[in-house]
Amino acid sequence: MYITRPILDPAIPMLSKHCVISLNSKAKPPSRKEILKEVQNKDAILCTLSDKIDAEVIDTAGSSLKVISSYSTGVDHIDVAYATKRGIKVTTTGDILTESVADLTFGLILCVSRLITQGHELVIGKRWKYGWDPNLLLGSDVHGMTIGILGMGRIGSAVSRRAKGFDMDIIYNGGRSRNIMMEKEVGAKRVNLDGLLVKSDFLSLHCSLNKESYHLIDNSCLMKMKSSAYLINTARGQIICEKDLISALRKRWIAGVGLDVFEKEPPSSHNPLLRMKNVVQLPHIGSATVLTRRNMADVAARNLLNVLNMKCAIYSANPEMSDQSRRIGTQIWK
Ligand code: DGY
Repeated sequence: MYITRPILDPAIPMLSKHCVISLNSKAKPPSRKEILKEVQNKDAILCTLSDKIDAEVIDTAGSSLKVISSYSTGVDHIDVAYATKRGIKVTTTGDILTESVADLTFGLILCVSRLITQGHELVIGKRWKYGWDPNLLLGSDVHGMTIGILGMGRIGSAVSRRAKGFDMDIIYNGGRSRNIMMEKEVGAKRVNLDGLLVKSDFLSLHCSLNKESYHLIDNSCLMKMKSSAYLINTARGQIICEKDLISALRKRWIAGVGLDVFEKEPPSSHNPLLRMKNVVQLPHIGSATVLTRRNMADVAARNLLNVLNMKCAIYSANPEMSDQSRRIGTQIWK
């Protein structure tokens, strides 16, 4: 099997008991050329979201390939439809990272609206001159505001629970049906996309990246938002048209943005977002806690071994391939 990045224990020790491993032990992702060379004749690939696993990679691996286990919950980097056609199972880390990503989403909400990073920079830059100041770094409240959740799935729901604790009004859009559970639990109200854009003080993106959501947040959406609103993205960079976002920020159509994800990661050093004051930007660390990454490693390894041993994956991206996709006992590290 091929593992594209060094990941936390217990994955590699667990897998090495059962498989011969070829591991890219470098800190950087493998190049396309390296991936195409390494996957040949392998029965399993354990990849991350930085690795594009498309039809060419799948074909290059050949008929030995049985499972692609992604060390991620999003699988937009994998051609799942093609893998399914070829009879290859694709597995994910499911809801293992839900709470950590929701925590970070709230971190961004607070940072961007309460000017936390600017405050930190002021103090460490020794530019805080006169002590308490009635006009210093005046931000916007979070409590009592309206949060709009685009995609009320697992992470959107976890963010909504946090928002409820902040006494926020919760509206949502996305998905084919209502999320009755969250409507009951936190009083979330389903609105159409326009309603979400127009009413949200914080618009938080939690949908997966696919053909429908690619560049969903573009000029036409940004211009409908309140000029006092903040946009938060901990999902995937390509859900926002970055060019339109930059122009909306320049025109002050919205007040600011909190980003954990970008259209291109890392963003180019010429990306104007990097020089904008009302943007808080993080290097895609939503799931980056030791515990969550360890649990992700555990699940990614178990998914892979389960499939090789003809058992159900814990989280499957193409459940139609299994007799039945169901969760089976995984150890959650505490
Ligand atoms: C995922 O898994 O999809 C996150 O974006 C990274 O942990």
